[in-house]
Amino acid sequence: MFGKVIETKENFVIVENIKHEINTQIKNIHVSFEEQNRTIIGKVSNITLDTIEIFLLGEIQNNKFTEGIYKYPLLNKPPRIITGNELVTMTGSQNLKDKNTLLIGSSTTYPNFKITCNLTNMFSNHFAIIGNSGFGKSCGTARIIQNLFNHEGSIPKNAHIVMFDVYGEYDKPFKALESIEKVHVKSYKNSKNDYTNVISLPAYFLDAEDLAILLDIDDSSLIPVLEKTLKYTKIFTSKDEKTIDYKNSIIAKTLLELLLSGKSSAQIRDQVISILNKYHTDTLNLESKVVEPGYTRTIRQCLLIDEQGKINAIGILSNYLNKFTEVDTTNIDIPINTSYSLDDIYYALEFALLSEGAYNSELIYEKSLALRVHLYQILNSEEKKFFTYDKYITKKEYVENLFKTGNNEPIQIINISLDEIDDRLAKVLTKLYSKLFFNYALENEDRASFPINIILEEAHRYVNNDNDTRVIGYNIFDRITKEGRKYGVLMGFITQRPKELSETALSQCSNFLVFRIFHPDDYKIVDSITSSLTRDDLERLKTLRKGMALTFGQAFALPMIAQVDLPNPLPQSSNANIIKTWF
Ligand SMILES: Nc1ncnc2c1ncn2[C@@H]1O[C@H](COP(=O)(O)OP(=O)(O)OP(=O)(O)O)[C@@H](O)[C@H]1O
Ligand SMILES: [Mg+2]
Repeated sequence: MFGKVIETKENFVIVENIKHEINTQIKNIHVSFEEQNRTIIGKVSNITLDTIEIFLLGEIQNNKFTEGIYKYPLLNKPPRIITGNELVTMTGSQNLKDKNTLLIGSSTTYPNFKITCNLTNMFSNHFAIIGNSGFGKSCGTARIIQNLFNHEGSIPKNAHIVMFDVYGEYDKPFKALESIEKVHVKSYKNSKNDYTNVISLPAYFLDAEDLAILLDIDDSSLIPVLEKTLKYTKIFTSKDEKTIDYKNSIIAKTLLELLLSGKSSAQIRDQVISILNKYHTDTLNLESKVVEPGYTRTIRQCLLIDEQGKINAIGILSNYLNKFTEVDTTNIDIPINTSYSLDDIYYALEFALLSEGAYNSELIYEKSLALRVHLYQILNSEEKKFFTYDKYITKKEYVENLFKTGNNEPIQIINISLDEIDDRLAKVLTKLYSKLFFNYALENEDRASFPINIILEEAHRYVNNDNDTRVIGYNIFDRITKEGRKYGVLMGFITQRPKELSETALSQCSNFLVFRIFHPDDYKIVDSITSSLTRDDLERLKTLRKGMALTFGQAFALPMIAQVDLPNPLPQSSNANIIKTWF
């Protein structure tokens, strides 16, 4: 059926159609042009009565397929249909016992062939799973993870997969894997009213950037306030004797500012009393004794207003407070292993706002008030439980413990259900945990020795161009996609709206599973990701059936369509059963 090459153009060659018949069976079939030392692989893309158009894909040399063509096939040599062995170099290894081979599904073009990927290339890079709603992203993801653990060879007992399960779908398909020896799955349900199975991050882990994310700050000028807040939180909660001097110093400074604020005597008196009622130490409080030659009085007494409406002892009080400020608080040496709660942060935030002079500036006051109100709301809502942790632990221990059972056995999958919590908090948690994992990996001396694969459902909701870049300088997911690979923090994005995903994030993904898409914008994005798709491949994306995905990227030899098997058990993602529920 294939004759000689009669024309070459761009990535195509045209060969004669010797039979002068249109045999549609050969459409999308792979062919090879065998030459000395190399075999060029192409795919039939169009057939006419006289010609067959072949899209050139790459070359096989030494049993290895490489994408791209640097030399056209010889003109006088007809191609032939690809052999089974050649096909294996493109569909991926058929040896499912090899631990570096991960089963994705069956080939839709060659039913006897499995589509597999190179496990290392898949999980040491970022990947994206794209497709319209209801065409198999969640089922496909669940199935591939099940395949990973139901491996015929050996199980990846030291894998660390974290799924942010936005719809609470994955609990069942993952939990079922625990029937396999040594496989452990930890599911955090994060139910509204159940405190027993909540993933909680110690409040003392939060740095100023984390607080900015938590409090949804849209103004970077508030970051210094948060930094100060955290410094004060550590000072106020420290049990260390020497921090008392720091406490006294910062309280005294704030009071001195107030004494010089030019406010009325009554305002000054009331505010000093109010501050000292809440923020005091054993040595600096309302009853502290201010000793003058021949006359000793308490701070409270110093605040008395005389008949002329003045605080008579204001100079004496200033002198007294000044003594406390001699301590240098710029380079404070605070013990780092202190634990504190979100309440402690709130207490310090209020003080930080006082000492910022926030109440003197309307603009800062308003912004800071929003900050305070927001933290107050969190403290008085179920959100607080996500930041309640009752003992001290380092970040390193915390991350490592997350992946250990009570018996110290490794946990391979952590499923964090987010379906019962509101979108804002879900976004905060995914960012804070991803940041924690990333920082853990950055600090790990043995680089990339503890790879963590973070899978994010509905990724477009989390990885978009939000306030983070403006306020804290970066979006954590963009950062992980740019820098995480070297440190072993890898993202898996699942999305129905690739257009809404940040461009940085998508452009850093190396592997793709594309289920059915039909929006022209999505279509353009997929086209722009890789040059190895033919027009026909792209057209086919519009008509893929449920569970069929175009697979391509670094872990795959060639773009191929795979029919992914349904997972067992299924995720809880099926459509509503209208007949059963309506009638
Ligand atoms: N591999 C498959 N084989 C057969 N049917 C499938 C397959 N995958 C999914 N389906 C069918 O499609 C339905 C929806 O699949 P799934 O929940 O995975 O879609 P989705 O792409 O994750 O959708 P959404 O974007 O709304 O989350 C499933 O309930 C199932 O009936
Ligand atoms: Mg889904």
